[in-house]
Amino acid sequence: MQASMLEELVPVPNPYPVVSNVAYPEVWRLCEQARELAWNPAADIDYSDLKRADLPPEVRAAGAEWWSLRAWMEHGATPYGAERLREAIFLHQPFEIKQHITNFIAEEFRHHEVSFRIADALGGYEPTPRADYFRQIIPRFHDEKDEKAMSFFAGLSVNTLFEQLSGELLQARYENARFESIKESCRLVLRDEARHIQFGRIIMRRFFKDLSEEEKTVIGVKFAKKLRGSLLNGVYAVVNLPADERERSGRNRTLAAEYGLGATHPDDEINIIRRGVSKIRDDVGQYGVTIPQIPEIDDSSPGNVDAIAADAVAAPAAVKR
Ligand SMILES: [Fe+2]
Ligand SMILES: [Fe+2]
Repeated sequence: MQASMLEELVPVPNPYPVVSNVAYPEVWRLCEQARELAWNPAADIDYSDLKRADLPPEVRAAGAEWWSLRAWMEHGATPYGAERLREAIFLHQPFEIKQHITNFIAEEFRHHEVSFRIADALGGYEPTPRADYFRQIIPRFHDEKDEKAMSFFAGLSVNTLFEQLSGELLQARYENARFESIKESCRLVLRDEARHIQFGRIIMRRFFKDLSEEEKTVIGVKFAKKLRGSLLNGVYAVVNLPADERERSGRNRTLAAEYGLGATHPDDEINIIRRGVSKIRDDVGQYGVTIPQIPEIDDSSPGNVDAIAADAVAAPAAVKR
C-alpha cells in the first residue's frame, strides 16, 4: 500500500474490549426496574375522555399548544441520550451504564409519544413551534459544546439535576390534571423520571467526591447557564420570553391550567423552580458544588424581569430540553 493512502485512514473508534461485568449494581437495579415498569402510551392510556370533553375551542388550542411543547421537549432529550450512548460505548463503560442510557432514550421517546397523543386528542399536535423566538432557541438545545466541556459523568450529573427540576414541575402538572388520561400519563412519566433522578443520585455519590475543584465550578456554572439561557425561555417557565410572547404563551398556559389540562400557571412555575433549585443547591452543596446566582429566581422582583429577560434571550445556552 502506498504511504499516501495510509495517511488518509481515519482512526475508527474501538468498542473493544466490550465490558460486561457489573460495576454499578445500583444502576443495574434501575435497569431491571425499567423492564418491570415499562408501559405503552398507545395501548395503556385511553384518550377518549379528552376527545369527548366539552371544552371551548380556545381551551383545546391552548391545551394542544401546551402538550405539543411538552412533546418537543421530551423529544429534545433523545438526541442528547444518543450522544451519551455513543460516548458510553467508546469509553468502554460497563453494560449497565449503556443499558441505562438506552432505557433513558426509550423512556424519553414514550414521554414524547404520550404528549403528542394528548395534544392530538385535544385538537392537534403541532410538529413545529409557532413562535419565531422558539424556532431560534430549539436548535441550540442540541448544541453539544457544553456537554463536551465536561467529563462523561459530570455531564450526566448536570443533566439529571434538570430531571429533578422538571420532575418538580411535572408533579405540579400531575396535581393540576382533572382528566384521567392526562393524570395517568403524568403519573407514568413521573415514575420513569424517578429512575432518571435516582441515576443522578447514584453517580453523584460515586463520582462527586473525586471531582477536581475546577470541575465542580464548571458543573455549577453550566447548570446556571442552561437554566437561564433556555429553560426559562418557555420550557420550564415563561419568564425569559420576549414580552409579547411571554404574555401570549402565559395566557394560554393559564387557560390550560384553569381547565385542568395538566399545566402550571406561569406565576406558580417560578416558585416551583425556586424551591427545586434550593433543594438542588443543598444536594450538590454537600459535595462542594456551588450553583451561582440565578437572577430570575434569586432576585425576581417585578421591575427586574424585563432586563433579565432581554439579557438571557440575547445569549441562549445549549440544553437538552
Ligand atoms: Fe421525560
Ligand atoms: Fe427524564
